[in-house]
Order: sequence, then structure tokens, then C-alpha cells
Amino acid sequence: MSTFATLTNHQIRLAARPVGTPTRANWQSTTEPVAQPPEGGVLLKTLALSLDPAMRGWMNDAKSYIPPVGIGEVMRAGGVGVVMASNTPDYCVGDHVSAGFGVQEYLALAPLDFKRSGLVKIDLNVGTLTQWLNVLGMPGMTGYFGLMDVGQPQAGETVVVSGAAGAVGQTVGQLAKIKGCRVVGIAGGPAKCEWVVKELGFDACIDYKAGPGAVRAGLKEHCPKGVDIYFDNVGGEILDDVLARINRKARIIICGAISQYNTTTAVQGPKNYLSLLVNRARMEGIVVFDYADRYHLAVAEMAGYLKDGRMKSKEDVVQGLETFPEALVKLFTGENFGKLVLQVASE
Ligand SMILES: NC(=O)c1ccc[n+]([C@@H]2O[C@H](COP(=O)([O-])OP(=O)(O)OC[C@H]3O[C@@H](n4cnc5c(N)ncnc54)[C@H](OP(=O)(O)O)[C@@H]3O)[C@@H](O)[C@H]2O)c1
Repeated sequence: MSTFATLTNHQIRLAARPVGTPTRANWQSTTEPVAQPPEGGVLLKTLALSLDPAMRGWMNDAKSYIPPVGIGEVMRAGGVGVVMASNTPDYCVGDHVSAGFGVQEYLALAPLDFKRSGLVKIDLNVGTLTQWLNVLGMPGMTGYFGLMDVGQPQAGETVVVSGAAGAVGQTVGQLAKIKGCRVVGIAGGPAKCEWVVKELGFDACIDYKAGPGAVRAGLKEHCPKGVDIYFDNVGGEILDDVLARINRKARIIICGAISQYNTTTAVQGPKNYLSLLVNRARMEGIVVFDYADRYHLAVAEMAGYLKDGRMKSKEDVVQGLETFPEALVKLFTGENFGKLVLQVASE
């Protein structure tokens, strides 16, 4: 036990709520001694953290599906790590786990906090550490349940997904292909679009940065039979462009609206919403945590696709806890290529 007292836990805390895009001034670096594992609990070492667009929302003092991070609190973050010490037979030293680690190097959890923090063992024979933050982790679960439960894809239908080269988007597009759909991605820049088509097997990908009207023209060209499912990760004008091309009984999955997360004015809502009326279509939001009881089923299915090569998982790994403030912003500039992961330590 005494060995842990000599270790230091580096942390990143929320120092101030941002206006617009977060900067280093919104964060504070702190240190404290590593805590002992509580009675019946565990001490975990963070290996890698998931950097998510949702983090921007958690920095706001606003009502949401989860309370905001308080000023002075360790920033909330999901991650993967390893058990360093255990006072329960349920977890052994050396077990790999996924949990809500927070942006810090160590986490001591009492048994009462196991469920709240989403503590579960992960099997590195099924997927790598970073795949457990991507296709087999929260973004993969979002893509899976958003597409399958809300979208309910039928073979032959046309599925459009924005943020196509990102974490959620790559799962959605590949899964929709596996389910027999025509899949058109929307992503920023030729490199991402080429990867989505050549590596992931999408039927086409529209570069929304190619110029004014690029999305509208691309949808016309690549969705000649209209759009049956739109998996929306970005909101804004792209949502309006897709709404203009939906089919009767289309399903629009509102997963996120990253184009709006740093806005300092009112969020831009859809102007073309009457297309839902005309087409008897529906638009439905999804929060991944609602499906926690069924994650294991989706993981089993997707692990099968990873194994047989029908699904690929691309992660963009940034090094070092201290780079967190700058790394997070990459999500909003589109600098991440694949699931953005912050590597905090090696085993
Ligand atoms: N509802 C839920 O439960 C849930 C769970 C997880 C994620 N989400 C949402 O799903 C979406 C994708 O998350 P992710 O983790 O997979 O992130 P990601 O796609 O891996 O990364 C974010 C990407 O968004 C794109 N982007 C940034 N600003 C944009 C803009 N103004 N217009 C269009 N695209 C923009 C960038 O790609 P380009 O280079 O292509 O622009 C960037 O790489 C987010 O909206 C997130 O909030 C929701």
C-alpha cells in the first residue's frame, strides 16, 4: 500500500466556463497524492482517455442529459486503464478496464461508485485498448444503437452519415454497409473522403469543404433515389441540405451537432423541417447511455466484424495528459482523423 503514497496523480480540472472554443485558460493542472484503494474497491491507472465532442457541452452550465462539470472539478472523461490494486475478488491486479476515469492519471473507486463510473472489464483479445474507446466503446455503441434502433435500416436503403471519418461516423457507415445499404458519407477534405470510400467501403463521400453548394450537389449525384436514413453528427447547414432530399418515411437520427457546439449565438436549427411533414418522416434524438444494458450485445456483434475484417477501426492517438487542452480542440477544427484518443501512460 505504502508504495502508492509516493505516486503523484496529475489532473486537469475545469477552471472557467468557455465562451466559444475552449482555450488553455479554461483549464487548471493540479496534483495530489494517489489515493489508497477504498475498502472493497480498486485503484486504477489511466492508460488512455476518450476525447469527445460532448466534453464541450459538459463545460457549459446548462441543463442536459448529464450534469455539467463543476468549476474546480476534474474534467469528466471515459477511458481505459489497468487495475493497480484491488480489495475485491471481482477485479485482479493487471485486469484491463473501461470506466469514467476523468482527465487524471489515477482513480480510486469504492464499490458504490463502480456502476456510476461504468466500470467494466475489457478483453484485449477482443480488441486493442484504443478500439475499446472506439468501435467497441462509447462511439461504437452510439453508432450501433443510433443506426439499428432509431434508424432501423433495411437492405437497399440509402444511408447518409456526416462526420463520416470520425469515431461515430466510421461505425455507422460500415455497419450500414454490412446491413446491405447504400452509404454516402460527408466529411471535411479529400483525404478523409478518400479513406472513407477506399478503406471503409462507403459508396461515396461528399467533401463539405469543397465549396458552396458541394453538399447539395453531392447528395444529388450520390443519392439518386433520395435519402432514407440520415445519421446527423454535425447539424447546421448540412442538416438542411439533407432534409431537402429525404424520402417518404425517412428517419433522421439526431446524434450530435458539432457545428453548433462552440457557437456564441443561438444554435442554428433546421430551416427545412417541413420536409418531415411532406415526407411523413421522423427525426429522433439518441443518448448512448440509454442503451448501457445492451452494450454487451453490440460489442459481441462488432467484435465479430472486426475479427472477420468487415469492420475497421481507426484511432488518432495524441500523447500526454498535459496536451489535453489543445488536443480537445482538434475535434472542432477537424484535425483528428479517426477516434481521438489521449494516451496518458503505458502499461
Ligand atoms: N448522442 C450521443 O449519445 C453521442 C455519443 C457520442 C457522440 N455523439 C456526437 O456524435 C458526433 C460525432 O462525435 P465523434 O466522437 O464521432 O467525433 P469525431 O467525428 O471523431 O470528431 C469530430 C469531427 O466533427 C467534424 N466537424 C467539426 N466541426 C465541424 C463543422 N463545423 N461542420 C461539420 N463537421 C465538423 C470534424 O470532421 P471533418 O474533418 O469531417 O469536418 C471532426 O473530426 C458529435 O456531434 C458528438 O457530440 C453523440
